[in-house]
Amino acid sequence: MSLILAIESSCDDTSAAVLRDDRMLSNVIASQKVHEQFGGVVPELASRAHQQNILPVVDTALRNAGVDKSQLDAIAFTRGPGLLGSLLVGVSFAKSMAQGLGIPLIEVNHLQAHVLSHFIKTTDDSVVPQFPFMCLLVSGGHTQILLLHDHFDMETLGQTIDDAAGEAIDKAAKIMDLGYPGGPIIDRLAKEGNPDAFQFATPNIAGYDYSFSGIKTSFLYFLRDKLESDPDFIEKNKADLCASIQKCIMSFLLKKFEKAAIKNRVRQVAIAGGVSANSYLRDGIMQLGKKHGWKVFVPTMQFCTDNAAMVGIAAYFKLLRKEFADISMPPYTR
Ligand code: KG4
Ligand code: ZN
Repeated sequence: MSLILAIESSCDDTSAAVLRDDRMLSNVIASQKVHEQFGGVVPELASRAHQQNILPVVDTALRNAGVDKSQLDAIAFTRGPGLLGSLLVGVSFAKSMAQGLGIPLIEVNHLQAHVLSHFIKTTDDSVVPQFPFMCLLVSGGHTQILLLHDHFDMETLGQTIDDAAGEAIDKAAKIMDLGYPGGPIIDRLAKEGNPDAFQFATPNIAGYDYSFSGIKTSFLYFLRDKLESDPDFIEKNKADLCASIQKCIMSFLLKKFEKAAIKNRVRQVAIAGGVSANSYLRDGIMQLGKKHGWKVFVPTMQFCTDNAAMVGIAAYFKLLRKEFADISMPPYTR
């Protein structure tokens, strides 16, 4: 039995979690509101907020888990990819705490952590995926179709050649002046709209790769033309625009993923990353599961966006392999 404290600080969420083996005991997330007024994450402000949040967040995670720091067996941290100033806060904190307690450190890749979040057990009878399974990893910075042969054996079948899916949806929201982050706002407004009101072309990209920059541009030009004849076009059609652009991006993601899953004959599929919170994507993958008889893993909301529990579960599998980090290991941004 091992108790792991995990720390995540790669972008704009400060998070700490405690796991007993693969069982989550606590998961505390402090989101940073300071970026909203700037329409995106401001790196310098993010690292300052991490500095303020990290101690109370770690303290609360330990308290919620009913664990004293003296009982910990290892400390895990997100080493990258992410914003350097943000990562440095979590990495330095983890190193000092591990050094002070005389326990080992475990470094975790943020993207692997998103995928491995499906192995977190929150109850005695939590069901986890079996290998091989395919995962659509969709976040603000990444879009990948992965075939998992083992916890750390992830084969990339396809990925975006330009913008990430989350980036595309956030930019669409920005064009409509909806606020930041745009993904959840578009998701909410889309519920009242008609997804077939407007059509936006998706590009023809070979294999299982994606491209989103063209969709963003065609959305921008479409609105520019409409606004010329009607300056209130966005305001009048907000829900329909949200529903239509959401459908365009999410159905493009699902179409390629479905092709790849059929070709690779997998029976289990999953979605992960911030965009896996999207209701169109969640419904869509469930429907694909029904259609093909696949077992589908959709993360609960607390495991969609950045959280430390996913770092903890990745660390648990590294602990089993005795893969520890050296105190001199620096963070990496990409
Ligand atoms: O994984 P994440 O929290 O951070 C990164 O590692 O990038 O993902 C953040 C992304 C943002 O682009 C955000 O707009 C998107 O996830 N997102 C959503 C939803 N909730 C978050 N996109 C669409 N629908 C949502 N409900
Ligand atoms: Zn993330």
